[in-house]
Amino acid sequence: MSADRLEITPAVKLGGVISVPGDKSISHRLAMLAAIAEGTTTIHNFADSADCGSTLECLQRLGTSINRQRTTVVIEGQGLRGLSRPALDLDAGNSGTTVRLMSGLVAGFPFESRFVGDESLSRRPMKRIIDPLREFGATVDARDENYLPLKIRGGDLNAIDFKMPIASAQLKSAVLLAGLFARGTTTVFEPVGSRNHTEIALREFGARIRKSANTIEVEGGHPLQGKEFSVPSDLSSAAFFLAAGLAVPDSQIRLTGIGLNPTRTGFISLLVAMQAKITVGERSVASGEPAGDIIVETSEITGIEIGGNWVPNVIDEIPMLAVLGTLTENGIRIRDAAELRSKESDRILAVATNLRALGADVEEYPDGLFVPGRQKLRGGTVESFGDHRIAMAFAVAGLFAAGPVVITNPGCVAISFPGFFEALRQIRR
Ligand code: S3P
Repeated sequence: MSADRLEITPAVKLGGVISVPGDKSISHRLAMLAAIAEGTTTIHNFADSADCGSTLECLQRLGTSINRQRTTVVIEGQGLRGLSRPALDLDAGNSGTTVRLMSGLVAGFPFESRFVGDESLSRRPMKRIIDPLREFGATVDARDENYLPLKIRGGDLNAIDFKMPIASAQLKSAVLLAGLFARGTTTVFEPVGSRNHTEIALREFGARIRKSANTIEVEGGHPLQGKEFSVPSDLSSAAFFLAAGLAVPDSQIRLTGIGLNPTRTGFISLLVAMQAKITVGERSVASGEPAGDIIVETSEITGIEIGGNWVPNVIDEIPMLAVLGTLTENGIRIRDAAELRSKESDRILAVATNLRALGADVEEYPDGLFVPGRQKLRGGTVESFGDHRIAMAFAVAGLFAAGPVVITNPGCVAISFPGFFEALRQIRR
């Protein structure tokens, strides 16, 4: 089989202990904050993912010295004034988190940075970060005021009060990072919560940050201090193995050291509400982030409707959740998730297209989908749409479909999980 297609055959049984890469969201944030901190930061279990590689490369282009040995990354902090003008474009590759968060960072400096990215990233909206960065006083140019290439010249920022127009952790983080450089105290009002890894990391680096109800305040001009971190493993990567374990008969899988930050564990809560047999054990907290082992067993699942405030908490798990809908008693309905159309692919369209290619009925809405339950997927060919989470969700479908599922362009899994297919092979019994 050529590398641009991969066949996944149905599994009889799954078992074993699996570890997945370090959390991608946390790894991006620790690397960026380390670059503008004082002194050295060492990050263990740094995400082995192409996206976090893009963040490290961009930081190097901004004059940061980084030493990477497998999953341990050592970063020499340059201080709040120490990044230098990049001689080359900052290439964020496929990574929305790299460009959106780092925009807030470079806005603190009086030189021009130019972000570029791959075809998918060049289609994703940037206006959301452009607006607040201009309010801080940065000069920002973008193609059609919304798309890469994005040019930012900053420095001399004034703090802002910002009300989040959408629930986006990337946007919130861009504002908090720019706030570190601004004169005065920046306030973010967040009516609907999103993942809070930036707030936790800022506190760990010694930033002056306060949180109350829906408001976060960060004081500008206060130096950060480098330190040692260990990143929990990524629940969004573990999600594919949780789904596989409950879908394939006679299975039991243990996932070790998974991040259990409550702003990320919605997928576990939803599965438990659907009667999935999932247990969470051995919890610990390192650098403000909780982690623990998760055990999943084959389960009959009922189905669920999700929307509203649930969506940001499970945003990256929705493709997998939708595929699991076929196995439920009464289906899975997802609403209020129009944001999925602006991810690495249009994930609503991608999931609906692929489920139909495997013989399932799906109803598509502008902001979500309904996947009726009790549908046996048949074998067939699906597209990854160049989107890592679509490739992985349909690889899992291949484990429980009636026949083999062929995935085109499967290599995109490396965006978050280069060893994914190998891990999937290892758990077959
Ligand atoms: C991320 C936030 C989410 C998520 C993305 C990673 C982050 O995006 O989909 O994969 O690390 O902040 P939005 O905050 O834009 O929804």
